[in-house]
Amino acid sequence: MGGIKRISRLSSNHMEILAAVCVCFIIWNVFDHLYFWYTMIQQYVMPSLLSRTKHIKQYGEWAVVTGATGGIGKAYAEELASHGVNVLLISRNPEKLKNVSEAITETYGVKTRFIVADFSLGRKVYPDIKKSLKDVDVGILVNNVGVFYDYPQFTTEVPEDKLWEMININIAAAVMMVHIVLPGMVQRERGAIVNVSSAVCCKPTPLVNVYASSKSFIDYFSESLHYEYASKGIFIQSLVAYFVKTNLIPYSTCIRFLMLDPKEYARQAVRTIGISRRTSGHLLHSIQFSISCWLPDWLWVSAITFLSNMVRREQNLQPVKL
Ligand SMILES: NC(=O)c1ccc[n+]([C@@H]2O[C@H](COP(=O)([O-])OP(=O)(O)OC[C@H]3O[C@@H](n4cnc5c(N)ncnc54)[C@H](OP(=O)(O)O)[C@@H]3O)[C@@H](O)[C@H]2O)c1
Repeated sequence: MGGIKRISRLSSNHMEILAAVCVCFIIWNVFDHLYFWYTMIQQYVMPSLLSRTKHIKQYGEWAVVTGATGGIGKAYAEELASHGVNVLLISRNPEKLKNVSEAITETYGVKTRFIVADFSLGRKVYPDIKKSLKDVDVGILVNNVGVFYDYPQFTTEVPEDKLWEMININIAAAVMMVHIVLPGMVQRERGAIVNVSSAVCCKPTPLVNVYASSKSFIDYFSESLHYEYASKGIFIQSLVAYFVKTNLIPYSTCIRFLMLDPKEYARQAVRTIGISRRTSGHLLHSIQFSISCWLPDWLWVSAITFLSNMVRREQNLQPVKL
């Protein structure tokens, strides 16, 4: 009889502990959701109601954008110009650079300049860039340039040249541009750096491993840079973008509905400068990113493998199994 009482007392104690854990879990989740929506309002709703031009211009006269002749980079350059900031474009094709800078001056009435540089060439391109930027009051640096795989594949199957291209363009270019531009910003005690990462930085991403890993590097690089330079008046942002309609990725038609137009994307993303240190740049992307982070790794990897195989099939390649 005494034994039964003890057991029921024990199990009622267990029930109380379980109930307390459940309540804590629910409270934690409610606060987590409230915080998420608070940051969404702060990043996207408030800036769209108020003009951000004064804020964007306060960093300095010029914005430097790498990979600025197409896709997200071009859209960023145009959006920054629409706020009255002069833009200096860096890409490898002189013809395209000339056309884009002339179009920006004509449309937005700001000054433009450009530097021809092929970041895939590594160290040798930076002395010229440094010389060209010597007396430029760079307020905003957008480290946008990036390359992707030709198609999803196993890491050891990626050609060596492609690996060096990704290392030089996706990683080294951002580090070296920061090394060139940041000292001037620190001297002037103002400046903003946007490092374009990707949503794939948040999870292990097979079949586009080196690209995803390069984007994780950019994300961590940005965060540590923030801790080093925030107290010196510099704002550093990691832009963890999702799918944008550009030439970068051989997307499968089935995800086209998830993709944003670069202009629409840059319009919202530029407004988050000075507000959010790590953002997806667009409300839709932020929702997708938080879902991705919340997914267990096995589900994320299955989804990536599924998408990768779809792209491989479209390019008449055999699907792969992990
Ligand atoms: N699109 C997406 O869905 C997506 C998603 C997440 C993150 N991102 C990131 O966003 C950034 C921009 O991507 P995007 O989609 O806009 O790419 P994109 O449309 O391919 O544009 C890339 C730009 O970089 C320039 N570029 C390419 N190779 C270069 C080199 N070796 N040297 C100098 N410039 C070079 C290109 O200009 P030229 O060819 O004229 O040189 C072009 O202006 C990348 O860092 C990418 O990882 C994109």
